[in-house]
This record gives sequence, C-alpha cells and structure tokens, in this order.
Amino acid sequence: MSLASPDISRYHSPLLTRYAAQAELHQVLPLESDEHVVAVRKAVREHALELKLSLVDQTKLVTAASELARNTLKYGGGGVVVLERLADGLRKGLRLVFADTGPGIADVELALRDGYTSGGGLGLGLGGTKRLADDFHIDSRPGEGTAVAIIKWKI
Ligand SMILES: Nc1ncnc2c1ncn2[C@@H]1O[C@H](COP(=O)(O)OP(=O)(O)OP(=O)(O)O)[C@@H](O)[C@H]1O
Ligand SMILES: [Mg+2]
Repeated sequence: MSLASPDISRYHSPLLTRYAAQAELHQVLPLESDEHVVAVRKAVREHALELKLSLVDQTKLVTAASELARNTLKYGGGGVVVLERLADGLRKGLRLVFADTGPGIADVELALRDGYTSGGGLGLGLGGTKRLADDFHIDSRPGEGTAVAIIKWKI
C-alpha cells in the first residue's frame, strides 16, 4: 500500500487547487484502494482528536469521510483527499476535500437526494454527509471529475 502524497495537479478541480494552495498545513492522501479508505479514516480520526472535537463530532466527521472516500473510490475510480487544518481567528476546524478525475455527477441535486443511487447502494452517503458536516460543497464537472469539500468546526 502506497501512502506517498499523490500529485494533485492532475485533478483539474479548481476547488481542490484553490484549497490546496491556501492550506497552511495540509496533508494529501491517496484513495485508490480499500486500504486507503482505512488509512483516511485513521488520519481523519487523528486530526479530529488533535482538534479536541467531542466524541459525537469525531464520529460524525469520520463517518462523513468514510462515505465520501467510498464514493471517490467507487464512482470516481479513485482519487485523493486533502486534509487541511483551518483557523479563522475565533475557532479551529478541519476541511476535507475529496477529489477524483472520474465521470462527474450529471445531476448533483438528484445525487444528494436520500435514496438515489446509481450503484446499488442505499443512496444515503451524500445527503448524510451534508447533514453531518458544518459546511458542504460539491464541484462536479461531467467528464472531468468531482470534488466534495466538507468542514467541521470545533465549537
Ligand atoms: N465521486 C463521484 N463521482 C461520480 N458520481 C458520484 C460520486 N459520488 C457520488 N456519485 C453519485 O451520487 C450517487 C449518490 O451517492 P450516495 O453516496 O448518496 O449514494 P450511494 O453511494 O449510491 O449509496 P450509499 O453511499 O448509501 O452506499 C451515487 O450513486 C453516484 O451516482
Ligand atoms: Mg455513497
């Protein structure tokens, strides 16, 4: 299993490029296999602990990260996740950006709907993730790829 930081420049998403460029402290992890999903869960849990998130918020963040990591692998054909620590003066947080160069999502609104799946899942991943995060953003371009960004703040 390779955990070397992947080159993110081939992920064309402006969302990802912008976030990665702004990040003062960021970590890029590959998402090409189930082992990588496990490693991402572990890394997110460690960041959440460092941020002193409550146990409930740790679980929310790790659950959201798992769902997005699985989507990146299953529908995006693999990709990367950028973990970035945030500080806005008042509070600290963690932003996760999941990016792939897969087919993109033709209808984001439909994909967010609970119960919609194109792959025989439950169709709860994206909608659930949106509810678990403090901030949620999808940048998807058909034929180019998808980037999903979530933020969890320590309050
Ligand atoms: N990275 C992605 N690239 C392309 N399509 C995606 C991506 N992520 C999600 N989708 C599309 O959005 C749909 C809904 O995703 P969601 O995670 O909500 O459900 P699911 O993965 O199908 O099922 P579940 O996550 O509940 O097992 C997917 O079925 C797929 O069509
Ligand atoms: Mg899913």
